[in-house]
Amino acid sequence: MGSSRSWRGWHGVPNSDYTRVQGRESTLTVDSKDARGQKCDGKGVIMDRVRIGVIGTGGIVQAVHIPQMLAHGRVDFAWCADSDAATAAKASTLAHAPVSGTDYRALLRDHPVDAVTIGTPHVAHYDAVMAALEAGVHVCCEKPLAMNVAEAEAMVNEAARRGVITFVPFSYWFVPAARLMKELIDDGALGQLTHINGYYGQGFGLTDMPMRWRFQRAIAGSGALGDLGSHLISLTYLWGGKIRRLTAHTKTFVHERRVEGTDQMAPVDVDDDVQVIGELESGALINLSASRTYAGRGNFQRVEVSGFKGGAVYNNSHSDELEVCLGDAWVSRNQWGTLKVQPKHRVTQMQVFPNAILEGRAPADVLPNFQIGLEVQRVMEAIEESASSGQWVNL
Ligand SMILES: NC(=O)c1ccc[n+]([C@@H]2O[C@H](COP(=O)([O-])OP(=O)(O)OC[C@H]3O[C@@H](n4cnc5c(N)ncnc54)[C@H](O)[C@@H]3O)[C@@H](O)[C@H]2O)c1
Repeated sequence: MGSSRSWRGWHGVPNSDYTRVQGRESTLTVDSKDARGQKCDGKGVIMDRVRIGVIGTGGIVQAVHIPQMLAHGRVDFAWCADSDAATAAKASTLAHAPVSGTDYRALLRDHPVDAVTIGTPHVAHYDAVMAALEAGVHVCCEKPLAMNVAEAEAMVNEAARRGVITFVPFSYWFVPAARLMKELIDDGALGQLTHINGYYGQGFGLTDMPMRWRFQRAIAGSGALGDLGSHLISLTYLWGGKIRRLTAHTKTFVHERRVEGTDQMAPVDVDDDVQVIGELESGALINLSASRTYAGRGNFQRVEVSGFKGGAVYNNSHSDELEVCLGDAWVSRNQWGTLKVQPKHRVTQMQVFPNAILEGRAPADVLPNFQIGLEVQRVMEAIEESASSGQWVNL
């Protein structure tokens, strides 16, 4: 892990800087880089705005991708594509996009864009990503990146071949408290890490919610593992680095759900719950639990990170602070206090992607990118392997 100064390279521009970037002159000349990182010839006007196409325009895209990118001020949505025409049309209205449709390949061909953002169910990520890469555009694709490691590797390789910027919205990297945690760890405030103990609980699995794609392996790939566990794995990576070995257990509590609008029941063939014990390459131990069957939990995360010099607790319900016990005076007395985030820790997730394009950043510096998506996918696959074999798995 690098020093805290690596934030700028890892996550785009902190908000304090972001204001300045937004207000800059749009005509850049000598030695500037264009949106693909190519040098300008000193005469041209480089990209001042980003044209974005959207593929899969349901819940998260309408709630997060479109509003956050609209608020950016230098993003224009060219079109919205969804397999459901009405959903695409609704999203187009929200995004002020002039075109909507059901065939994203035709839209990519007929209405050129600089980038796409993808929010389909997991099984459709691969085809959408590859179509976008084939068109040579920058790609943001929701988590988990793929259905398996092989798909994720192919995406990483093709994106590298094309030299485009990629982005995977592991949203909790952008919780201010998570960024403060990263800074403390990089600064050595916790010392050498000993534990990352994380819990991510939702409760919708306990309800009589009818069958949805999230309960079907063929569409979702996995259940709580990909939906929630991928976030915990990504936070573990952010704070502690790679996992060396793990053992895992998964469980399904609710085995069938009603097919909406009928009396028929359909089988649930994904996990409701996943538990992981493991060890990082650094030697720190991890203990992760992600579940859709925690009663009374909407979207709750708590991760305690402990090291030789102190501890810190991240809780997404208190996104602007960490509970900390840092330094001898506090550790020796088992005393905990509250550390508040600063303005530099506030970065809007879906503005990092267009900022990176506008600034011509190197793809490797824009994080979390497809490479991180692949790292998470490897851990997910190891978890499934361990859950099925009952054995420890080395990564
Ligand atoms: N980062 C986060 O915190 C976060 C939160 C929620 C969801 N997600 C992820 O976002 C993605 C979408 O989740 P959601 O909850 O918005 O799902 P959703 O079901 O609300 O939306 C998915 C949309 O994709 C459309 N679609 C399906 N197949 C398609 C295809 N082949 N081509 C084009 N459109 C297609 C559907 O019609 C639907 O409108 C998933 O990867 C999910 O894991 C991430």
